Amino acid sequence: MVAWASRMRESATPPPLAENVSGIAKYNIVFLGSPIWGMALPAPVRTFLSTHDLSGKTLVPFFTYGCCGTGSAPETITKLAPRARILEPFSLKCDQERDTLTSVTAWLRSARAQL
Ligand SMILES: Cc1cc2nc3c(=O)[nH]c(=O)nc-3n(C[C@H](O)[C@H](O)[C@H](O)COP(=O)(O)O)c2cc1C
Repeated sequence: MVAWASRMRESATPPPLAENVSGIAKYNIVFLGSPIWGMALPAPVRTFLSTHDLSGKTLVPFFTYGCCGTGSAPETITKLAPRARILEPFSLKCDQERDTLTSVTAWLRSARAQL
């Protein structure tokens, strides 16, 4: 997967999307959610930004990542949607919820053992 995503990232031809958002003109606010691949915005998301006119719209980006933050993704969005108003991105480590659950469960088990 990582090698495939890297090839896609380096390719001069952006990958086509299986579907486009028809009638994007009628939306004023667009939430754009994406994983981070190779410390960057995945190539299909770049295709989306390049093929849909987001001028004058408010773009609300949010990301999930495995370990290392959002990399160059916010900057790429700014480059590819130069005429959109882009809000501060929200990002979350993808297994944050699982980590929290594991920690809380371990704490409660330990507390119960001490009762
Ligand atoms: C091809 C590929 C490349 C990835 N590269 C990164 C990376 O550079 N940094 C990072 O923190 N996470 C990386 N990840 C982890 C994804 O960001 C993580 O799987 C995703 O945010 C969770 O969404 P998903 O459930 O749709 O995979 C990568 C995942 C894939 C599949």
